[in-house]
Amino acid sequence: MLTSKISLFLFAGLSCLLGASAWASDYKAALYTLSQEADQAILISALHQNGSAEFVSSIQTGGKGAGARGQDALQSSDSLLVHRNLLFALNSASDELSLFHIDPKEPWDIQQIGNNTWSGGRYPTSIAVSPDSTKACVANAGSESYIRCFSINESGLELIPSFSFDLGLNQTDPPVGPPKTPSDLSFTADGQILFVTVKGSGNATEGLAGRIEIFDVSSDTVSHKSTVYAASGPGGLPFSVTPIADSAAYLVTDPTGGADILRIERDGSISYNASIAIPGQAATCWSAYSPVTDRYFTIDLTRSVITPLTINSTTLEATLFPGYNVTTSSGKPGSLVDARIAHFSDQQDYLYSLVAGDQTVRVFSLPAGGQSGTLDLVQTYELGVAYNSTGGAVGMSIEGLAVFIRSSW
Ligand SMILES: *[C@@H]1O[C@H](CO)[C@@H](O)[C@H](O)[C@H]1NC(C)=O
Ligand SMILES: *[C@@H]1O[C@H](CO)[C@@H](O)[C@H](O)[C@H]1NC(C)=O
Ligand SMILES: *[C@@H]1O[C@H](CO)[C@@H](O)[C@H](O)[C@H]1NC(C)=O
Ligand SMILES: *[C@@H]1O[C@H](CO)[C@@H](O)[C@H](O)[C@H]1NC(C)=O
Ligand SMILES: *[C@@H]1O[C@H](CO)[C@@H](O)[C@H](O)[C@H]1NC(C)=O
Ligand SMILES: *[C@@H]1O[C@H](CO)[C@@H](O)[C@H](O)[C@H]1NC(C)=O
Ligand SMILES: *[C@@H]1O[C@H](CO)[C@@H](O)[C@H](O)[C@H]1NC(C)=O
Ligand SMILES: *[C@@H]1O[C@H](CO)[C@@H](O)[C@H](O)[C@H]1NC(C)=O
Ligand SMILES: *[C@@H]1O[C@H](CO)[C@@H](O)[C@H](O)[C@H]1NC(C)=O
Repeated sequence: MLTSKISLFLFAGLSCLLGASAWASDYKAALYTLSQEADQAILISALHQNGSAEFVSSIQTGGKGAGARGQDALQSSDSLLVHRNLLFALNSASDELSLFHIDPKEPWDIQQIGNNTWSGGRYPTSIAVSPDSTKACVANAGSESYIRCFSINESGLELIPSFSFDLGLNQTDPPVGPPKTPSDLSFTADGQILFVTVKGSGNATEGLAGRIEIFDVSSDTVSHKSTVYAASGPGGLPFSVTPIADSAAYLVTDPTGGADILRIERDGSISYNASIAIPGQAATCWSAYSPVTDRYFTIDLTRSVITPLTINSTTLEATLFPGYNVTTSSGKPGSLVDARIAHFSDQQDYLYSLVAGDQTVRVFSLPAGGQSGTLDLVQTYELGVAYNSTGGAVGMSIEGLAVFIRSSW
């Protein structure tokens, strides 16, 4: 009785403190990650003005995460996505998606909108939202490997029955990858085209080349334009998609060699490509872009290296900078999974890198005029420890990372 009163008081006190400090503008943003436990939860952290993170709370999605499938449970990018003041989360093992409303003034306060919605297939792993915010599309990676789209409105998500494309991957539930699974999907800036990166078998003899599936989404019916072998190099496992600033091109990571640069034309053809070989790379899977420093960052899961690079938006020529090794406190490679840039101001970005090996988030400061390619670590945020101490349990897999910057206070 006494204990519960005290903890209730403490809890109320803590949330008041956070509320009060928030209005005093100590906090600039919120960071969300997705625990992949069967009782899946979004782990919410607040970001200080100096980029450092502090655990706030967790909220269950009501769905199932990928489960104990090693450090890279999803083998995809964009399983957790912020679009405007909406947060989309995939419940991979229960074939659903969850939608949350983010309070733009107190972004650590999120509220679920409606119930979880069937993903239109089995085992969804990536989600994208159209630039006009009317449509969300998902890639399903399991036995029903469909690309499906949903209309978005205030009451939630509604499946668009006419939009359904089978990737034909002949997968199981859960899928066995990384080969033959979808990796990511994205809309072009004009919202006319949806494209999906799909990993091939990784063996030219066995067929199923890596590819990019392209859809004309100006109507609600599928108009499937083309299937293109993505990489000019040894490629074949196209992974995350990051738009290249001031161009119609995209940086597409490829764990077999580094990354590729693609340009997608209005007619759905791919007009340009080049491969960026990252020396010594083992599994370059994720990528992010910092507008303040005009740097791209690729994330190598196996070697646990973050590689900064620049890309000339006219010539699309890439210049690599020395990689940054992320090791755990025991000296092991960290197993990097997801990364996002938080754009705090015209003068300051931060890079958040999720480290599955020790359930931390490494926070790097990216100030304007910073030294080319250098990564300045400002915090090793012990996310797993913080969540475990609340009585939740993170297994080996936290995957999915998203940020929201407060609009005003
Ligand atoms: C960032 O700000 C927080 C809150 O004021 C403080 O606890 C922390 O030490 C700061 N970190 C750095 C690297 O200055
Ligand atoms: C959500 O699910 C519950 C339980 O199945 C149901 O009672 C409720 O009507 C559903 N709400 C919506 C908005 O579909
Ligand atoms: C939400 O969108 C669906 C599908 O377009 C539509 O049937 C429904 O009426 C919309 N609801 C609201 C509240 O606009
Ligand atoms: C589909 O996968 C099963 C094993 O899961 C395999 O036996 C079968 O040959 C595959 N079919 C095709 C067309 O690849
Ligand atoms: C590719 O597949 C063929 C046929 O199944 C097999 O003989 C060969 O060893 C495979 N190559 C690699 C690199 O796995
Ligand atoms: C990729 O680039 C190579 C070399 O320039 C070219 O031969 C190939 O046709 C290009 N592929 C696509 C899909 O544009
Ligand atoms: C990009 O390349 C063009 C052509 O070589 C060059 O004129 C321009 O200065 C380059 N831009 C940057 C930012 O380096
Ligand atoms: C990173 O680790 C590799 C070995 O994996 C090593 O060769 C390299 O020197 C390290 N780089 C730095 C900057 O420590
Ligand atoms: C959190 O708890 C889980 C389950 O007990 C454990 O596997 C994991 O190692 C813990 N993580 C940390 C960072 O303590």
